[in-house]
Amino acid sequence: MTTPRVALPQHGIAWETLKAELEDAATHDMDWRHGRLPAYIHYAGEDVLDVSKQAFMMYFSENGLGLQAFRSLATMEAEVVGMGLGLLHGDDAARGAMTTGGTESIFLAVKAARDYAAARRSITAKPRIVLAESAHPAFDKAAYFMGVETVRTPITTAFTADPQVMAEQINADTIMIVGSVPAYPHGVVDPLPALSGIALERGVWLHVDACVGGYLAPFAEKLGRPIPAWDFRLPGVSSISADLHKYGYTAKGASTLFFSCEEKFRHMGYSFDAWPRGQYFTHTLVGTRPGGAIAAAWAVMKFLGEDGYLDRTRRLLSLRQGIEDGVAKLGMHTLGRPELAIVAYGSHQHDIATVGAGLKARGWGIGFTRNPPGIQTMLNMTHEPVLKQYLQDVADSADAAPAAGSTKDLHAVY
Ligand SMILES: Cc1ncc(COP(=O)(O)O)c(C=O)c1O
Repeated sequence: MTTPRVALPQHGIAWETLKAELEDAATHDMDWRHGRLPAYIHYAGEDVLDVSKQAFMMYFSENGLGLQAFRSLATMEAEVVGMGLGLLHGDDAARGAMTTGGTESIFLAVKAARDYAAARRSITAKPRIVLAESAHPAFDKAAYFMGVETVRTPITTAFTADPQVMAEQINADTIMIVGSVPAYPHGVVDPLPALSGIALERGVWLHVDACVGGYLAPFAEKLGRPIPAWDFRLPGVSSISADLHKYGYTAKGASTLFFSCEEKFRHMGYSFDAWPRGQYFTHTLVGTRPGGAIAAAWAVMKFLGEDGYLDRTRRLLSLRQGIEDGVAKLGMHTLGRPELAIVAYGSHQHDIATVGAGLKARGWGIGFTRNPPGIQTMLNMTHEPVLKQYLQDVADSADAAPAAGSTKDLHAVY
């Protein structure tokens, strides 16, 4: 169904009318507020949402492109970066900047790694990135846009990147290897200590994609979860992407990209002078940046503080455990060992696509994994009050499902 083309109205329409239309339009969306969505939302409570919205609106018109004009935003960005680097154990040499999202952070990490390699050695063929099958498509997107090739390697039976197999694919043209904290499909953390060792031994840039876990894993560790080292404590890590608009719980349009040192950070930016308007420089891919997203990130981080993040992390980890335990009682099993707030489960007994269809019929949005088939969810606080209902609906859907493997066609249904 295509939406009919709408013409610009001849005369302006009153805000009250438009507001009512906007409210009506939202009634056709998935009901994220009641925990029905397995992705896209990172709700941490009404108080956090309120702070984020208010801070965003205060800097709604200001532009993060103009950091000299808006010293306020420059200071806020520097403080956000400082807080992030503190969590990820960056030393005094470490640097970073805010971007507008995970994909932009990954683009700029690829750009920096490519330019850093080009400045130091001759790359004769297409620059290469080696990454596991489970890594986010943003790397392929970035590679496609920047004339880089990706080599994706099979994952282990534990659904993690396989360092040995990745090492075999590193050649003279390799500019980057990637590990995820966690990878999106199964929520498992890659073996970063081994990848760091390989990066040092082979002299390649290791990027840690902590877009999902960057503001979760540090708190999970503080709560005593045994997460192997993955941040700047590992000497092989060159850059880390960590999204604020995910488990930083702030307004969309906010991520952070960090580098182990100034020399690597320098390759993130872009500078141009050959036009009549003089020097143009940005650290980001985008030019104009919403000032609101920077202000909201600054305000939410300070509003929550370590205590607030620890509280949300503890609740998310217990929610994930609740799902793991609940589906286990139904004869299903978690795929791999997720350590943060993404969980995927499959079944040797029930056809998982039919279970998913049953959940969909009961009003749940469903994320799927392939090979093996599973149902996947990225958790947030809206899921907390509906856990019992969700598990009941999984049970009822499973009761009605045929044997495992009856359906081949799996896709996410939102
Ligand atoms: C592991 C991982 N990396 C990167 C991204 C891309 O983030 P964004 O959608 O903010 O561009 C995502 C998005 O879910 C992700 O899960």
